[in-house]
Amino acid sequence: MSAGFQAVLWNRHKKKYDIVLANIILVYIGAFFGINTWQYTLTFETMLIRSFGTLAILMLHVILSIGPLARLNKKFLVLLYNRRHLGVTMFLVASVHALFSILQFHGNGNINPILSIFLSNTHYNSFLFFPFQTLGLFAYLILMLMAFTSHDFWLSVLSPKVWKTLHILVYLAYFLLVMHVLLGIIQLESSPIYYLMLWLGVVWISTLHVMAGYKEWMFDRQQKQLDNEGWVYVAQLNEMSNNKAKMIFANGERVAIFKYDNKISAVHNVCKHQNGPLGVGKIVDGCITCPWHGYQYEPANGCAPAPFTEKVATYHTKIIKGVVWLNPNPLPEGTFVEPTAFTEESTKKQLSTELPFYIGWQAKADALFGIFAKRISLAILLVALACLSLISFNQKHIQASYFTEGTPPKYEGQLIETPFPALRTINRKDVYGNPIVETYPLVNAWKFGAKEVVADFLRKHGKDAQVAITGATLESEGVKLIQLDEGGSSISCGKANGKWKDDPCCKPKSATSLSSMKSMGVDASIPELAIKHIKNITVAGEIIDPKCYFGAMNPGFGKPHRSCAIRCIKGGVMPVLKYKNNKGENEFAVLVGENGEPLNDKIGFAVGEPIQITGELSRVDNWKIIYLKLSDIKRLLKSALTKCL
Ligand code: HEM
Ligand code: FES
Repeated sequence: MSAGFQAVLWNRHKKKYDIVLANIILVYIGAFFGINTWQYTLTFETMLIRSFGTLAILMLHVILSIGPLARLNKKFLVLLYNRRHLGVTMFLVASVHALFSILQFHGNGNINPILSIFLSNTHYNSFLFFPFQTLGLFAYLILMLMAFTSHDFWLSVLSPKVWKTLHILVYLAYFLLVMHVLLGIIQLESSPIYYLMLWLGVVWISTLHVMAGYKEWMFDRQQKQLDNEGWVYVAQLNEMSNNKAKMIFANGERVAIFKYDNKISAVHNVCKHQNGPLGVGKIVDGCITCPWHGYQYEPANGCAPAPFTEKVATYHTKIIKGVVWLNPNPLPEGTFVEPTAFTEESTKKQLSTELPFYIGWQAKADALFGIFAKRISLAILLVALACLSLISFNQKHIQASYFTEGTPPKYEGQLIETPFPALRTINRKDVYGNPIVETYPLVNAWKFGAKEVVADFLRKHGKDAQVAITGATLESEGVKLIQLDEGGSSISCGKANGKWKDDPCCKPKSATSLSSMKSMGVDASIPELAIKHIKNITVAGEIIDPKCYFGAMNPGFGKPHRSCAIRCIKGGVMPVLKYKNNKGENEFAVLVGENGEPLNDKIGFAVGEPIQITGELSRVDNWKIIYLKLSDIKRLLKSALTKCL
């Protein structure tokens, strides 16, 4: 209690509780990784984020269920005793999700990651496109505050009233998290199963709270029977169990009237620790013992035994013809009241249906609680695994993408800065023996584009520079990008006719000069860059950042990825429109302004959501490009809303 604090007062029950908890967590995370590696193409980071995020929210449901369940059925006290460990563990689990989400979606960009949560997606005025991660962050801060103040040290520093009020914020956190999931991932996944699960969770938590509240409300409004002096009827003596209490509602307060050692004493029902119901407790070693965490009070004066200092209000009682009465006026906390004594005969009939009492710090609990604890742990595990299977097997199957790092492949070819930074190469010929030019867009490491690096290199070495590049390959759906390994130093002067050129290696050449690619085993030259106009088009799709989409992340599109895509595009990665052709196949086109200017700083408002674009479709080697005016981008909010509803 309040005599001095140790970090955690370990005992057998707490250790068992924590071991069971740790095992459930391990099984859940293991099963999540198992199913998802076997069935899906998610990246390791996405699996980490999803497994810990879903586990945290499931744990929050368990935590919020324990209070009302224990009020409805005393057997659940076995879960309540150590609820704070569960709370802190849930916070740690949520931390893995939150920290990896921040790192993955906001880290290594051109602004502070926390600012990025607020400033990347800025559709604050839209319900469907609301920046859902801000809600997760606020919920996380509440959970952090609760975890940091969970120790009894803070309970005594802040006072139980302030502490309790603070901890009621968990309901706000729960609401924020429901909205976080509803406005986030569900919009990508869109399976009705997710809505149903979230809905069931909310209904379950609300129903339990309403049932527990109703039980207490019914108790509070029981008809009071008064005698002619205004004392309140408690019970027949023989209806009361030894060492247990009868609770009544008098003068707007709940009072616990205990029967023990042929005596009756009454105290205010609310424990000074965390407002636990003393009337549900028991007399242990001569003291009233709170059912929640075992704080103790002497029945006659409501004082915690020395050296503890907590005190509760006491009440006068009387017994007339075997009936117990209570004076409803509370006495100051800690006031001694002579217990009302009675003789043995009047207490023959005991209630036999009472449950044994559980309190975690006792050396041994009744076997009934052990059996119940095993059953309830198994039930929680089975429910968690059922949720896990429903969550996992209803995810969208995403096209596999590859990020090949490690032994960096070396590419050679012609470096270009416009219409977007890229490397033009010839690695193969078509069926007629004509060389095929393949253009690989270039991006930088983390959330940055390669425009400046490329421009810098070309300034120094001339506009047709033939170069060698070391970099990672990003590849999906037949499209390839190169990520420069070490920024500018990844680009070096290339070979000509199998030999490295002398420095300055990449001399400016005339526009028509051709770079031989003999060194690549293809005896052909790269034709001059030509941009071919195809047609004016109006097309619906989604703006993605190609770096994440084609390899760095999986999934790298849709609402959950929106902020990250905005960050990458603002960091210089070229925006790309993903749309469907007449055959229903995915097509990709780089977006630039009507005069070929980059749109990176201006197009954020339209990234990662359904849009319609009108512009001039052109071709650069194997890539498509659309020239457009920003005013020709239409956000398709309405159809997205209809799809969602
Ligand atoms: C800084 C705070 C947070 C951030 C930045 C954040 C970010 C995210 C992101 C980006 C996603 C979508 C991930 C994906 O594509 O799969 C997501 C989903 C989710 N979040 Fe959070 N989150 C935060 C806090 C929390 C907390 C505290 C919880 C629960 C206690 C939580 C529970 C979930 C759940 C259940 C999902 C859906 C499953 C998933 O995709 O991971 N989040 N969050
Ligand atoms: S509420 Fe914790 S011991 Fe009473």
